[in-house]
Amino acid sequence: MRWELVIKMISLANLANVFKKKTLQIISMMISVIIISLFLYSCQSPSINESTDSILEKDSKISLINEPITPIPLKLELDENKVKLGELLFHDRQLSGDDMISCASCHKLNHGGVDLLPKSEGINNRIGEVNSPTVFNSGFNFKQFWDGRADTLEEQIEGPINSEIEMGSSWPLIVRKLSSSPEYILSFRQLYSDGITKENIKDAIATFERSLYTPNSRFDFFLRGDKNAITEEEKEGYNRFKNYGCITCHQGVNVGGNLFQTFGLFGNYFKDRGNITRADFGRYNVTGKEEDRYLFKVPSLRNIVLTSPYFHDANAKTLEEAIAIMGKYQLGRNLSSEDIDLIIKFLKTLTGNYQDNPL
Ligand code: HEC
Ligand code: HEC
Repeated sequence: MRWELVIKMISLANLANVFKKKTLQIISMMISVIIISLFLYSCQSPSINESTDSILEKDSKISLINEPITPIPLKLELDENKVKLGELLFHDRQLSGDDMISCASCHKLNHGGVDLLPKSEGINNRIGEVNSPTVFNSGFNFKQFWDGRADTLEEQIEGPINSEIEMGSSWPLIVRKLSSSPEYILSFRQLYSDGITKENIKDAIATFERSLYTPNSRFDFFLRGDKNAITEEEKEGYNRFKNYGCITCHQGVNVGGNLFQTFGLFGNYFKDRGNITRADFGRYNVTGKEEDRYLFKVPSLRNIVLTSPYFHDANAKTLEEAIAIMGKYQLGRNLSSEDIDLIIKFLKTLTGNYQDNPL
């Protein structure tokens, strides 16, 4: 409708050109400029973000302020019984070959969903290749793992179960062990007609993982319209986060987790760090395409203050270091210590609640 008007005014201006009448020409050009500006303005007026509104905000009638980050939904509809069963399995060490390691060994729910180690320790004290990411809010990521090699949470579970440096197990072994427990037999029967199977185990664990979302951070209150939920300094940190361009990669509901990006857009991060390993090739290991070398899933920054060390290689022990590296290699910018302090203040407002308790 508005576009039609714009096109009409532009053709009017052309018509005036034909008649070579200067005043008519100028007047119609001015009108079309005004209409185009009005059109562009209406496109960016601070209305509710519609796509997010329909997907994520069914729970809330409050209008969001229009920002590139959206709040975590307050409530997700999940089968509570599957969540409970999945929680048991997530903490069950029988899932590993030697009954020593559970998912929770490396994803500690009382430590931000990580193990706080540079590289995780798996079965027989084997050390992994990359830093463990958090399981909190992983349900919002578009792919799983640093290199995005799993499309879903269900698919992701295959990784640690079968990995010889993580849980060193297999599905027949796990199904056999769980089938000796009357409690498990009963719980599975109540939820799944075919009882204890690999697919059902994955379904229950993935459902539990989807329940690990952390709403009600102070920043989310701010997004929902409470202007005083964050301080002026925190707002300034957020402004710099946007103005410097962190937001081009870390955005959406998870402040990340929705695209791949090359690590080292400005300068060769890996060469500067040294000791390049296979894990540093990132997405290249999945696709074999040269252009995917050093491409990684942009990680979520939700609850980020709780999950040091940082990066897939755990090269940054502190957020200060991580942000300075991001400035240098992702934005080609030397961030001042004031910039970094303010951005950290903003990042701290992203810590949310799990089951109504602060993380
Ligand atoms: C030995 C430690 C260890 C164990 C045990 C382990 N994980 Fe992980 N987890 C990791 C590491 C390390 C990664 C990152 C691997 C990669 O990206 O290549 C990871 C990645 C993930 C991710 C992807 C998160 C993201 O943002 O990409 C999820 C989800 C996850 N694990 C869930 C689980 C579940 C469920 C289990 C149990 C079945 C489990 N993990 C067992 C260490 C572990
Ligand atoms: C061009 C895209 C891009 C930009 C811009 C960007 N990042 Fe990142 N960020 C990434 C990628 C990719 C990673 C993962 C790197 C890795 O470990 O392989 C990452 C990782 C991080 C991490 C570590 C997360 C973790 O769990 O280990 C932090 C913190 C971070 N970025 C903050 C920032 C800040 C603050 C800015 C702005 C100063 C910024 N980023 C700008 C893409 C970007």
